[in-house]
Amino acid sequence: MAELNTKPTKKREIFSTGLAVFFATLGSAVGLGNIWKFPYVVGSNGGGAFLLIYFICVIFVGIPVMVCELYIGRKTRNNAVGTFKKLKPGSAWKGIGGMGVVTAFLIMFFYSDVSGWVYSYVFKSITGQLNGVTPDIAKAVFEKTSSGLTLPILWQGIVFIVVAAILIAGVKNGIERITKTLLPILFILIIICNIRAFTLSGAGDGLKFLYSVDFTKVNGGVILAALGLAFFKLSLGMGTMITYGSYFTEDNNLLHTPLKVALSDIAVSLLAGMAIFPVVFTFKMEPSSGPGLLFTTIPLVFSKLPLGNLLLVFFFILTAIAATTAMISLVEVPVAYFSEEKGMKRTNAVIFTVIIMFVIGTLATLSVNPSSFVGNIQILGYGFFDLFDKVSSNILMPIGGLLTAIFIGYFIRKDDLKNELMNNGTLSNTVKFDLFYFIMRYISPILLIIVFLSGLGIIKL
Ligand code: PHE
Repeated sequence: MAELNTKPTKKREIFSTGLAVFFATLGSAVGLGNIWKFPYVVGSNGGGAFLLIYFICVIFVGIPVMVCELYIGRKTRNNAVGTFKKLKPGSAWKGIGGMGVVTAFLIMFFYSDVSGWVYSYVFKSITGQLNGVTPDIAKAVFEKTSSGLTLPILWQGIVFIVVAAILIAGVKNGIERITKTLLPILFILIIICNIRAFTLSGAGDGLKFLYSVDFTKVNGGVILAALGLAFFKLSLGMGTMITYGSYFTEDNNLLHTPLKVALSDIAVSLLAGMAIFPVVFTFKMEPSSGPGLLFTTIPLVFSKLPLGNLLLVFFFILTAIAATTAMISLVEVPVAYFSEEKGMKRTNAVIFTVIIMFVIGTLATLSVNPSSFVGNIQILGYGFFDLFDKVSSNILMPIGGLLTAIFIGYFIRKDDLKNELMNNGTLSNTVKFDLFYFIMRYISPILLIIVFLSGLGIIKL
């Protein structure tokens, strides 16, 4: 058995430079989470106080877990399941990787649906269908986009074709090339959108909402939402960072990259929030209006502006970029797993994975439509869309993160970990390593357990 588990894997590609590593990892982190989810989750959980808790989750849980995952991946250069087989042959730890593969599917089921809405908004903005809309029309367009029968599924299919094409091209020619080209464009576009939002009359109220801290709204559920968002945002607890870590260059500083990625990711989220909340307050909309927030606010920002339609095109293109670079990292988890563990050819693994994701993903899509049969099915009180979202973000990802931190903190020799994180002595990271080790071993797991139990109502904070 043991020899089987440690068999050398097929020749693998890796990213070519440190910059490519950074952009690919940031491309995974930056996604619909920043532009679509972050604003409405912040909006429905009370603004500034939530933000503060979110930062704490990123620093004390998110970054340490990311370091652990990248370590696991680069150390063994293997997929999310194979990596545990290599580190602890014959043990049950590979279950963490298996859970990650399942979570990647669950996330893609609904993520591809929202991405379909985004792709369709790119098309709508280019063809002028969003020109000069009013709040009511914006709402109606969104309802048609998200709850029709055929169109949402058609767009979801297009999303999968794009993702599959990039992944079939491979790690270097696909993932690396796309993220390196598109992310800088995303930054420029988002800054242009911010400049416009700041000149709206409600800009001050929007920013106040985002940054004023009111702790009366905070409870266990809010803290769990912040932790869930941190995991979702940083692509943690489900094998993506393990898989990308396995493509990292040998000389990458695994303590610095997570910090740089997390900070840049927060910057993008804040920029997105600062583009959206001024509109919400200028047009007296509901900050907690849920998943449609982005789609019903943004067309209004640019509605009455010279060149407004062009800016709108920019905005949805930037969102489509973010969604796509995140999806390729999600789908890569099962692709690497199927091709390395099950011996599938990469192209076949990609096609197999996206077909399953598409077929089951249509359930999420149809569940948004109240008049469809699927729209009336409830499991644990949620429709499919919310079920896939809640189970992955608030349960599976934090559990994956907790188990990963326990695995690294208590089952891997400290010297081995230190040696890898210091690149075999080429980096002088001792103080940073000690700090990381302490947080990862003691603070992250305890925080994760407390937040989890309180979110489930088992303990009261
Ligand atoms: N981080 C991505 C986002 O914010 C989502 C994601 C989750 C990507 C998990 C990969 C893995 O949109």
